[in-house]
Amino acid sequence: MKPETLAAQALHAIDPETGGVVPSIQLSTTFARDADYVPIGPVYARDESPTPLHAERVIAKLEGGASAMLFGSGMAAITAAIRTAIRSGDHVIAPRVGYFAVRAWLARFGERWNVAHDLVDTTSLDAVKAAIRPGQTKLVWIETPANPVWDVTDIAGVAAIAHAAGARLAVDSTVATPVHTRPIELGADLVMHSATKYLAGHSDVLAGALVTAKLDEHWAEIATLRHEEGPMLGPLEAYLLLRGLRTLYARVERSSRTAFWLAERLASLPDVDVLYPGLGSHPQHALAARQMQRGYGSMLSIRVGGPGPEVALGVAKRLQVWVPATSLGGVESLVEHRFSTEGPSTPTPFDLLRLSVGLEHEDDLFDDLRTALEGR
Ligand SMILES: Cc1ncc(COP(=O)(O)O)c(C=O)c1O
Repeated sequence: MKPETLAAQALHAIDPETGGVVPSIQLSTTFARDADYVPIGPVYARDESPTPLHAERVIAKLEGGASAMLFGSGMAAITAAIRTAIRSGDHVIAPRVGYFAVRAWLARFGERWNVAHDLVDTTSLDAVKAAIRPGQTKLVWIETPANPVWDVTDIAGVAAIAHAAGARLAVDSTVATPVHTRPIELGADLVMHSATKYLAGHSDVLAGALVTAKLDEHWAEIATLRHEEGPMLGPLEAYLLLRGLRTLYARVERSSRTAFWLAERLASLPDVDVLYPGLGSHPQHALAARQMQRGYGSMLSIRVGGPGPEVALGVAKRLQVWVPATSLGGVESLVEHRFSTEGPSTPTPFDLLRLSVGLEHEDDLFDDLRTALEGR
């Protein structure tokens, strides 16, 4: 079946007891055994629990993976994946451009655990190759398209380099979603989502997901970590995530169509530089066209110029429709001045505004931006 069908029906979920077409929420933390003391289903909810299991099965299917695991946040999923891939003395390659908390975490905890890392321009396969430390590099972490300039990385190209060096490749595919890209088909070992974003889709759930290409030793280690440390997603959040997943394709296709339309319109305005993989002017547009399907995602950024951050902040403050808030992937469109959020050490330009396109009418979104930009 096609992914839209699998998602819309949450894998044809009919409640076996009632015939309900909406899965029930199972809140139990513990599960009885049968007369022979054999578990009937799950044992304890820190390991697995029916509602999260259901959402995990849907996500694994949409990504074409062997299995998925949910976590209490995207960062919990990222740190579980990295920590189980490395030992003291190992080396990690991470993107120079990407979600800033990953860089901050590697800098803080990598050093404490004697794990070296290099921040690399992963859009350059030569740069990735050059950063490999033979025998020491155990994990290559990439994000594509990458926050907040939407660099696109060649997943298949990096997978070949990582695998030749005996390293694993993990892909933060939060922005691409399985609608636009399926990294496992391109050679990734692990796919990660901040499910807080498009998978849940309504800015009301904090969740993270990992999907594995195969049931290997690393996957078993991640399961052990989640069992022993307990960053599991709870059933109520898993239910909301499952509900969001059912409309994933409709939401993402619509918002990415609007993002494309907005990118083209904004690019025609004076003194606005638009960063969006769908535009011919984007440095990795050809790769994006090859690697992404059904559009180029719902995230774009604009650079609005000025001698300092005040000009971009002024545009953000004048917007009436776009909501000034962090995060992305919800039904409401958000604008964020990432330079202010990420702090002075950020490589993000001070004149950049990040736009998360939601489901509003495109005219309202464009008119609001045009008016705010005219006030510069
Ligand atoms: C691309 C990307 N990866 C990971 C994360 C972290 O996810 P969470 O906030 O769910 O911990 C975010 C959050 O903004 C993100 O944008």
